[in-house]
Amino acid sequence: KFAALIEEVEQKFSTPTALLRGIADAMVEEMEHGLRADPHAPLKMLISYVDNLPTGDEHGLFYALDLGGTNFRVIRVQLGGREKRVVTQQYEEVSIPPHLMVGTSMELFDFIAAELEKFVKTEGDDFQLPEGRQRELGFTFSFPVHQTSISSGTLIKWTKGFSINGTVGEDVVAELSRAMERQGLDMKVSVLVNDTVGTLAGGRYVDNDVVAAVILGTGTNAAYVEHANAIPKWNGLLPRSGNMVINMEWGNFKTERLPRSEYDSALDFESLNPGEQVLFILSVYFQLYVGLKEFWFSVPQIYEKMISGLYLGEIVRRILLKLAHDASLFGDVVPPKLEQLFILRTPDMSAMHHDTSHDLKHLGAKLKDILGVADASLEARYITLHICDLVAERAARLAASGIYGILKKLGRDRVPSDGSQKQRTVIALDGGLYEHYKKFSACLEATLADLLGEEAASSVVVMLANDGSGIGAALLAASHSQYAGVE
Ligand code: BG6
Ligand code: GLC
Repeated sequence: KFAALIEEVEQKFSTPTALLRGIADAMVEEMEHGLRADPHAPLKMLISYVDNLPTGDEHGLFYALDLGGTNFRVIRVQLGGREKRVVTQQYEEVSIPPHLMVGTSMELFDFIAAELEKFVKTEGDDFQLPEGRQRELGFTFSFPVHQTSISSGTLIKWTKGFSINGTVGEDVVAELSRAMERQGLDMKVSVLVNDTVGTLAGGRYVDNDVVAAVILGTGTNAAYVEHANAIPKWNGLLPRSGNMVINMEWGNFKTERLPRSEYDSALDFESLNPGEQVLFILSVYFQLYVGLKEFWFSVPQIYEKMISGLYLGEIVRRILLKLAHDASLFGDVVPPKLEQLFILRTPDMSAMHHDTSHDLKHLGAKLKDILGVADASLEARYITLHICDLVAERAARLAASGIYGILKKLGRDRVPSDGSQKQRTVIALDGGLYEHYKKFSACLEATLADLLGEEAASSVVVMLANDGSGIGAALLAASHSQYAGVE
């Protein structure tokens, strides 16, 4: 009795290679669109003001603050130049109390400044700041920001379940600096970077061939090194390096080729971010008014909601709920917990998906603990496993097509036709989804290799750059230090 329903889900979630190639092409088109000054381009292609990546010569004591993943992190690092590299580093991770994610700007920034202040107090003798110097900080802020310089920028919108009054349109560095002042902390914010940009910088420090970075965690996004003269909207001076790092904000990527199902549309509608919900309703009215059928295409963060960790478990829950309603997957009564939004988190989905026991007992235990399914039949457990597979595989394949799109934009997707050797290309990846969800990362890597073909794939390396963005921000703070060049 489940066969027809499951077949329908399989069909809606299928991502054949030809479709992925089309999506990659659309990604390239939208990248170009976003690099022109069109405010309606879905890919914002934000200019980061990072035109030089770490060289290895950075030295001194620097701090970093990393806000926007599951946890927020404070980091300090003593850099020893080319010979000694990272001499010592320490970090502390603090989870953000959920009420602060939907509170006021001042409460959030006061909280992070207070944690930073506590951390600075624990600085030991391993770290050295020359007499009379101010401590400096690289601020990784993992949300879309319209940068006005390397160390300032205004928030465009909150994403990933953050929804805080009074920050959109404000300079986040000014907000942080005021909060630090209120804590009596004398520290200068030298750089403001997105987590993708920080990861790219951290990746480049360990491998000179890193040209792009992708985050696959709570949210998803990518940054890459673009030729400054290929950015029509850049009207500053041509950087000496000739390059500029672009924060794509690819979570907002959309194309009619994305295989959207009713589960994705419903998720959007009930998404955690009330701002987006209001936007969605307004856009439905507007688009019905102007007579467009595919009204959901103006809803923000479409691509992110099909791929990233905040949403995958929720998509699985929605499909299971439909199967429970329409085909009594878990017996005659639909388990009430299954109706609860976001109750199935992606780490739990991953644990179910990786159950290798013959009777799927771990998966059964999760169903019981999380969804209150008393005794799922073996068939129901296998169906649940299959649904996890479909959702994770679609996400990993879509993410791979995005990476393939970036490689195409950079002309690194193929072996040169003049017979010369293809340049080695490294992509730095970070984020809990990529790091911990092994079936997801394996599928992403296999799909990317398939899209590239054997020969081109042999010179493309995907590298886990764990916690790269914190260290990357500290490295960029070093190269943009107010004391740079002063011995
Ligand atoms: C971390 C980076 O390792 O990964 C952060 O340092 C980034 O900057 C984070 O935001 C994303 O991971 P998650 O899974 O916590 O969202
Ligand atoms: C969201 C944010 C983006 C960030 C990504 C990964 O998409 O908008 O800025 O890079 O999550 O953390």
